[in-house]
Amino acid sequence: MATTARELIAEGERRLRRSPAIDHWPPGRERDEATVLVALCLGVEADALDEDDEADGRRVRRYRTLIRRRAGGEPMAHILGWTEFGGLRLRVRPGAFVPRQSSEFMVEQALRRLRGRARPVAVDLATGIGPIALALAAGAPRAEVHGTDISSGAIRQARGNAAALRLRNVRFHVGDMFAPLPARLRGATDVLTAHVPYVPHPEVRDLPLEVRGFEPEHTLTDYTESGLSLVERAVGEGPAWLRPGGWILLEVSPDFARAVRGLVVRAGYRDVRSTKGWPQVTRVIVGRR
Ligand SMILES: C[S@@+](CC[C@H](N)C(=O)[O-])C[C@H]1O[C@@H](n2cnc3c(N)ncnc32)[C@H](O)[C@@H]1O
Repeated sequence: MATTARELIAEGERRLRRSPAIDHWPPGRERDEATVLVALCLGVEADALDEDDEADGRRVRRYRTLIRRRAGGEPMAHILGWTEFGGLRLRVRPGAFVPRQSSEFMVEQALRRLRGRARPVAVDLATGIGPIALALAAGAPRAEVHGTDISSGAIRQARGNAAALRLRNVRFHVGDMFAPLPARLRGATDVLTAHVPYVPHPEVRDLPLEVRGFEPEHTLTDYTESGLSLVERAVGEGPAWLRPGGWILLEVSPDFARAVRGLVVRAGYRDVRSTKGWPQVTRVIVGRR
């Protein structure tokens, strides 16, 4: 007997709610994910799904397999092979950090600071598969955007995404923090964004399985007790790369906002603020050279 999309969504939502492997924030996430997976199995976009649509036995079996994978912690982006970020559809493969929608807030903050400038330069440190750099390049087409990451696999994915999106104003470089950037960007960068690893190493084991089991450890932590060595480097080396009046933006979780704000103030930046992104998920600390 055929099963309706409505029944499958309810079944999947129940199964995901019970999963100890996944983070249950934000509220409603399980239903949204179940809906996307039903739509995938029925071959339609989630926003075009009619809950009265019916699935035959083969599609129901496929759906249940996907729900089982998701309930086991596999990230949605790995199951789908893509994720939406800042209005862009990015291809995602295992082996790199999965972009979080919560980082869109830092993109908005950065774009506001790029838009008034004639041919601005933006640098995104620890860019991963490039969501922040790509969204900046798309949102500020006259900007020149550079992303760096220590992982050549992540940079390969970032370059693939830039090519697929036909974004020609972004370049990706493999290397340690600022090291691979062209020297001409010294003192010439308008906006520096950094969503670097900041989880203290001893706390990695407390992260949900969907994070610690599926994302490489070097994307989550710098392996120190404080977790803040890469944030400190971004803050400490930032002024050498920023133009006078240029901005640094650092994304961290609320637990680290005070400490990072203190670092930015002590490093001598002006107009330092801790801005609230998604409730309970992010803060973006901003400061100006
Ligand atoms: C939390 S992930 C964020 C990735 C990306 N910014 C995003 O928001 O999706 C941190 C990234 O830092 C990179 N990373 C770790 N150590 C690094 C280093 N020393 N220099 C540059 N990137 C580094 C990791 O490979 C990973 O892609």
